Amino acid sequence: MTYLDHAATTPMLPEAVEAMTAELGRLGNPSSLHAVGRRARRIVEESREIIAGAFDARPSEVIFTGGGTEADNLAVKGIFWARRAADPARVRVLAGAVEHHAVLDAVQWLADHEGAQVEWIPVDGLGRVDPAAVREMIGPGGGDDIALITVMWANNEVGTVQPVAELAALAREHGIPFHTDAVQAAAQLPVAFAGSGAHALTLSGHKLGGPLGVGVLLLAKGTDPVPVLHGGGQERDVRSGTLDTPAIAGLAAAVEITASRWEEQARSLSALRDELIARVMAAVPDAVLNGDPVHRLPGNAHLSFPGCEGDALLMLLDARGIECSTGSACSAGVAQPSHVLLAMGAGPERARGSLRFSLGHTSTEADVAALAEAIGPVVERARRAGLS
Ligand SMILES: Cc1ncc(COP(=O)(O)O)c(C=O)c1O
Repeated sequence: MTYLDHAATTPMLPEAVEAMTAELGRLGNPSSLHAVGRRARRIVEESREIIAGAFDARPSEVIFTGGGTEADNLAVKGIFWARRAADPARVRVLAGAVEHHAVLDAVQWLADHEGAQVEWIPVDGLGRVDPAAVREMIGPGGGDDIALITVMWANNEVGTVQPVAELAALAREHGIPFHTDAVQAAAQLPVAFAGSGAHALTLSGHKLGGPLGVGVLLLAKGTDPVPVLHGGGQERDVRSGTLDTPAIAGLAAAVEITASRWEEQARSLSALRDELIARVMAAVPDAVLNGDPVHRLPGNAHLSFPGCEGDALLMLLDARGIECSTGSACSAGVAQPSHVLLAMGAGPERARGSLRFSLGHTSTEADVAALAEAIGPVVERARRAGLS
């Protein structure tokens, strides 16, 4: 098998499996006051400290959630509700046009059900937000009527990395909370919460070598979203629900290892990715690289193959044991051109005939060689089948 879909999910690190399985057989609700509960609580609090240390945050800023989608929803809806409650005039939301659906659809839901006035922040042809455009959107009113600005750290489809620190500084200048979805970035690039200036930052376990179904919202002191989940008041009353000790232990183990080799892995993955792109382009000279060639996730190669259906390419590669994606796995199966490529100005044909190859901690030269060998004949075959 040649697995080139690490952006969809990446294998758990052995250390994370070990930490998680050690906890699976153990009893204990971390909220219980007796010894068994206190033992589980200790695991949770040690994990919180590891995660805070890795991401330049304070332990009190770490809110555990059931994944990246939940953390995004809590940030977007919760901060909107809190800001509007403090001032009913604050109903504007500025959100990146190329956000993951976990942000995109949460923002759209606020527009459809809560009277939010959404303004989508445009991107250029490489998928990048221009801070000057955001300054203009904030407008002469200084942003008093803005509840939230949200722009992702790095895009899950085309891998473009955004100028997050500049955007956060701009938001702070105007007293506006800034949220960033760092789910993809945190697996491959150094992510510093305090250093970035963001008020809220989303992480997901299964993208960085931890388990599925656990995530984190980093929340700066003083940023207090209205909860989405109500119940037992766990996690500073921001996210109720009994904490998943095994998943949290696995997440902390994965974070510790991932963060310890961010720089080294970014270098090696970038080299492997550049080789992948060069070899695919050599086999299919009219293929087009999407996204920013410079500000790019180390493991992302997103290419369009003119005259092909992305789905056909994916199935033909799958038949040869090569696994990749036609965009984000979360929207695969939905026969619509990617909103990311459309926002970047690509025509529907280029958007449809595209594939994402994403590398991660288990990727090797042999993976790249297998793709390089297969891609030419596969594209030829998909071209003969034509566009539907
Ligand atoms: C950028 C981004 N945000 C959020 C998510 C959702 O995270 P989770 O799968 O943990 O719900 C994903 C997953 O694809 C993602 O890539």
